[in-house]
Amino acid sequence: MIDIGIRLDEQVGRINPNIYGHFIEHLGGVVYDGIWVGEDAGIPHINGFRQELAEKLKAIKPPVIRWPGGCFAETYNWRDGIGLRERRPVTVNWWYMKDGKLESNHVGTHEFIEFCRLVDAEPYFAVNATTTTVLEARNWIEYCNMPQGTTTLALEREKNGSAEPFNVKYWGLGNENWGGGGCMTPEDYCHIYRKYGIISKSVGPELQFIACGPYEGIPEWTEKFFYKYKEMYTVGRVAPMYGYSLHYYVTNTGQMGTELEYTDAQWYEMMRVGMDMEPFIQSQFEMLQAALPGADVGLIVDEWGVWHQLHGRHPLPGRYLFEQPSTMREAVLAALSLNIFNNQCDKVVMANIAQLVNCIHSLFLAKGDACVATTSYYVFDMFQAHQEAVCLKTEIGGQPITYSLDGMTYDMPGISCSASLKDGNLAITLANIALDEDQPVKLSLYGGEYEGEGSMVVLASSNPRDGNSFEEPYKVTPSEQLLWAVGQELTVTIPKASVVLLKLPVA
Ligand code: AHR
Repeated sequence: MIDIGIRLDEQVGRINPNIYGHFIEHLGGVVYDGIWVGEDAGIPHINGFRQELAEKLKAIKPPVIRWPGGCFAETYNWRDGIGLRERRPVTVNWWYMKDGKLESNHVGTHEFIEFCRLVDAEPYFAVNATTTTVLEARNWIEYCNMPQGTTTLALEREKNGSAEPFNVKYWGLGNENWGGGGCMTPEDYCHIYRKYGIISKSVGPELQFIACGPYEGIPEWTEKFFYKYKEMYTVGRVAPMYGYSLHYYVTNTGQMGTELEYTDAQWYEMMRVGMDMEPFIQSQFEMLQAALPGADVGLIVDEWGVWHQLHGRHPLPGRYLFEQPSTMREAVLAALSLNIFNNQCDKVVMANIAQLVNCIHSLFLAKGDACVATTSYYVFDMFQAHQEAVCLKTEIGGQPITYSLDGMTYDMPGISCSASLKDGNLAITLANIALDEDQPVKLSLYGGEYEGEGSMVVLASSNPRDGNSFEEPYKVTPSEQLLWAVGQELTVTIPKASVVLLKLPVA
């Protein structure tokens, strides 16, 4: 039996809906064939956007979408993606060496904004901070945000089809500047970041700037960056900072088996590495606060997910670059990651799973007229209940799971959980990490009582290695049943390797 205590009397904070954000990069089949099929496509589309994907995405309330990269952003010239589509330049894509693809630029600023409007999401632009100038970044902001009939760039936007400004709020200044974004030192990058302060004083006093932080392998980047930032901050001329970006991939180079075949120990290894995101977030936040005590800067995990890097950086025949199938393993990993973001919502203000379609930890696989929602899509659907809710403190008891791999023995909790409250309704999400058995879970409420009829939604399959594919698109989907609870205790049994959502009224 696993005991979980839920404290109605201890709130962690408001869950920013942007924690349920997405990421679209011009890479492999994400943009072309993923979201964009073109206006002449013989399959259902809305102004060139894949209709089935747009409708399914809208249904899970995507709050924010990051674009155009990733690494691609660091060689992107926004000017290539405006004006008449057929006259746009064909350019080299950062990723072209890997999949032999050139960039048509048919999806540019106007198209991306249209996609965001179609699915009701805020745009989050990643600015090239490496191979272009601060002036070009300023011009892009001006083009997007200046009111109708003001500057020459606002008039150009109008000529290109949008008199109304796009009002893009989130601007990431650079991407992975320690790697694909210029191989910089934290000090070099900080110097560049400082220059963007000039933009904030002209076109964007209300913009939300996001600085590039580390990935899980170089946590020390943060101390060095903020040491420099702080030095500059005292001078008062550095760009303000709404968010600080972290990347956290659960990278599988073989130690976690293959995408579809893995031992039990390899399953647990993936879960353990996934859970390590929590101490990474905590330590990054501590470094930030140590440098800037009390600063109102949120963490933004704008790339995360399971990345099977088993074949180097080359696509497999019939697949797009970094396209990978998903099973219940990715679903449970997605759920435990989202539980971490909820539980750290006093630190994390946005997160963007990598990537939306046909790439890494996707919510969709799409090719031609086929569009499949993966197991992780259904996790996002279930977790909608947490958006804008108040996260409650939870305490997990019970036996840890022990497993051995390559001569090492590890312990970790057998379950992951988060709980939130909105309008008198409690939402509890559980990820059952245990592979071999269903688990009875006792959920004790402190500071209130369960108040009657609710529901329980379960995403599971008799074989945890199952997932959705082009051949079997609906193999794993959630099922819902009614649930009744009064008083302070509720015991439910949740299937092995499952994701569960409980919704209950409380008072
Ligand atoms: O998501 C794929 C790539 O992973 C991104 O372009 C880059 O930022 C990261 O290394």
